[in-house]
Amino acid sequence: MSSVDRRTFAKLAAAFGATAGFGDLFPVTSSSGWRERRDLFPEGVASGDSDHDSVLLWTRCPQPAGTSPVHLTVEVAEDLQFSRVVAHANAYASSAADWTSRVLVGGLHPAKVYWYRFTDSAGNGSRIGRTMTAPDPGDSRPVAFAFVSCQNTNQGAQSAYRRMIFEDERAPEGAQLGFVLHLGDFIYEIVWYPEDRPQGMYDRRIRDIVRYPTGEKIDDFHIPVNLEDYRAIYRAYLHDPDVQDARARWPFVNMWDNHEFSWLGWQSLQKFEGATRPAQTRKVAANQAFFEFQPARMARPNGDSLEQFNGPKVVDTPISQFDDHGLGIETNNLAAIGSLKGYRALQWGRNIDLIVTDQRSYRSEEPTGMQQAKALLSNDFPEMMPQQAMEILDAARAYNNGNPPAAIRSIDGSFEIPNVWKSRPPQTILGAEQKTWFLEKLNTSKATWKIWGNTTATLEMRADPQNLPAGVAKPWPWPGYAGFAIQDWSTSYVERGEIYDFVQNRGITGFVTVAGDRHSFWAGLAAKSLPPNSFSPVGVAFVTGSISAPGIVEALEHGLPKDHPLRALYVGQAQTDSKPQPTLNMLLRHGVKSCLEYAKTGDVQKARASSNPDLSPHVAFVDMGGHGYSIVRATSQAIETEFVCIPRPLERSDREDGGPLNYRVKFHSPLWQSGQLPKLELQIVEGDPKFSI
Ligand SMILES: [Fe+2]
Repeated sequence: MSSVDRRTFAKLAAAFGATAGFGDLFPVTSSSGWRERRDLFPEGVASGDSDHDSVLLWTRCPQPAGTSPVHLTVEVAEDLQFSRVVAHANAYASSAADWTSRVLVGGLHPAKVYWYRFTDSAGNGSRIGRTMTAPDPGDSRPVAFAFVSCQNTNQGAQSAYRRMIFEDERAPEGAQLGFVLHLGDFIYEIVWYPEDRPQGMYDRRIRDIVRYPTGEKIDDFHIPVNLEDYRAIYRAYLHDPDVQDARARWPFVNMWDNHEFSWLGWQSLQKFEGATRPAQTRKVAANQAFFEFQPARMARPNGDSLEQFNGPKVVDTPISQFDDHGLGIETNNLAAIGSLKGYRALQWGRNIDLIVTDQRSYRSEEPTGMQQAKALLSNDFPEMMPQQAMEILDAARAYNNGNPPAAIRSIDGSFEIPNVWKSRPPQTILGAEQKTWFLEKLNTSKATWKIWGNTTATLEMRADPQNLPAGVAKPWPWPGYAGFAIQDWSTSYVERGEIYDFVQNRGITGFVTVAGDRHSFWAGLAAKSLPPNSFSPVGVAFVTGSISAPGIVEALEHGLPKDHPLRALYVGQAQTDSKPQPTLNMLLRHGVKSCLEYAKTGDVQKARASSNPDLSPHVAFVDMGGHGYSIVRATSQAIETEFVCIPRPLERSDREDGGPLNYRVKFHSPLWQSGQLPKLELQIVEGDPKFSI
C-alpha cells in the first residue's frame, strides 16, 4: 500500500470512528506479550462489515472513571497461535466512547480467515476473535452467510447461536459462513426487572440483566432515557456468553430495527401508552451507543474524530410539520436521525451484493397503529383488519386515484370513523432519499444476487375470514380478505408495489429479500399484489425466526380466551392433541377451512386439502412460532436458504450443540432470467414443520 493509499485509508477509517491498521509485507511472530485476561475486556471482541481487503475490529477495555485513554495494540494473524501476524496497529479506548475501540485493518487478502486480539501495554489481552474477508468482487466462488434478528436476553436464551457455532465449526472450509447479517433487535430497550413481573412473561422467566442508571418506568417495564442508559443495555447484552461467542467467531453486518431506539419509535419520536412524544435526545443517544458498540461502516456527519461521536446537540421538540413524504421537518428531528447513517451496501464476491436499509429513521407514521385505527380491530377477529381498510390507510390521499373516501366503516360496520388519512401522503417506510439510493443500488448492481437486507418483513400476511362457514362465529363484516396490522411491509401496499414494479420494469433478476422483526420464519415470493388482483412475483423473500424473543403464537397461547369461537384458527387443538398447536400458520398458508378441518379431524393432510389456493400463493412456508436462525448459500446458478428451527428457547442449553432442533428446511431457487418467474423448491431436511407447509 503506497503512502497516499495509506492516507486515504486512514481517512476512511476515521470516518467510521476507527484507527487505521495495515497489513505487513511479511508475517512475523507476535511480540505483544499477550496473556488472556477476559475480565479486563468483559464485552469480548467483535468484527464487522468486512470487504475484500479490510475489516473493522472492536473491543471494549473499561477503566476507572477519570482515567486517561488507554493504548492498545491489535494483532491480526493467519493462525490461532499468532505465529504469523500479518497486521498490527495501535488502538485506543477512552471514556468518550465508553472505552470502546475500533480499528479498520486494511491490506488483507480476500476470502481469508484471520485471527485477532487486543493487548494493553502491560500485556493483558482480550479473548481471541476470528474474522473473515470477503472474496474479490470478481470472484464467483459459492458464498454463505447467516441472517438473524430479535434476541432478548431479558426473556430467553441465545442457544441458536450455540447451534450456529457448533455447525459452522464442523462445516468444510469452503462452506463456512462468511458473515452474520444481524437485522436488528440486537437489544430490547424495554426491560422488565424481575420484581416487576414475578409471574414472568408468557412461558418466560425474567432475567435480571440490567438496571438503567436513570431510566424511566412505563407501565411495568423500564426504558433508557440517555446515553448512559443505552450503553448499559448494550453492555448487558454482550455479557451473554452465546452472543459474545458469536461476535468473536464471525464478522457481523449490523443494522438497527426499532428496539435499538424505541419499541414503537419512528424518526425521533416515541410512542407509549397511545401518546406520541418527541425524543430527539434519545435518538441521538441510541445512535451514539450503536456507533460505540457495533463496528459498522456507518458515516457520522461530524465523523472525523476517532473517539467522539460528535452527535448534534438537540432538544426534544414536538414535530408539527411533515413534508410530502411524511418526514418531520423540524431541525432537531432532522439532526437526530441524521446523526448516524445506517443504510449501506456491501459486496461479497461476484455473487452477492448486500443492500441494507433502515426502516425506522425516515419512515412516515405507521397508519394501522394510530389511535384512530382502533375501530378497525375487534376481539371477534383477533389481530385481523380488513385488507380494504388497510389499503385506504396506506395509500391515504392517493387512494382510488386520489379520491379517498371521507369516512371508513368500523370493523363491525356499526359506525363510521372520519378518514383522517385522506390528506396525508401515502405511507413510506424507506423515505424518499433512502428509496432513491436503494433503487439506484438495485439498478446498478452487477452481482448474481441482489440481496435486500431489510429489518422488517415484506411477505404479505393475510387470512380469509370471509370463507368462514355460517354458525362458527360472527360473519366477517367486510368484503374480501383480512390482513394483519403488524406494522411492516405486509400492509405497505403502495411503496412495496413501487419497488417491485421497479424491479420488474428494469428486468432486474436475482432479487432476494432477507428480513427479521416478525418473530417467525417465512419463505415465499415477492409479489406486489395477490388474487383476486394480479399475481406476478419479481423475487424471492425470506423472514428469519427470532433468536429468542417471544412470538405471536406464544402470546396467543397465553392471551386468547380458551372459549374464543375462532380459537381453531390461531392455537387450535384437535382431540388427539395434548396441547395447543400453531394453527395460525395454517390459517395464513391455507385459510380458515383448513384450520376448521384440522380441529375436527386432527388430520393435517386432510386439512391441507381444504386449502384456499387464492389466499397465499406467495407463501411457501410460514411458522409464527419458530425460533432459530437462517442461512443463505449463493452460487452463480442458484440460491438456497435454510431455516434452522429450535424449540422455544426458555433456558440456555448446556449441550455443546445448543440443544435439539425442531426442524431444518431448505428452499432452492435457480437463478431466473429477466421475464421468467422466480421459483422456490422446499426440501424438508429434518423434523416435521407440519402446520407451516
Ligand atoms: Fe423483535
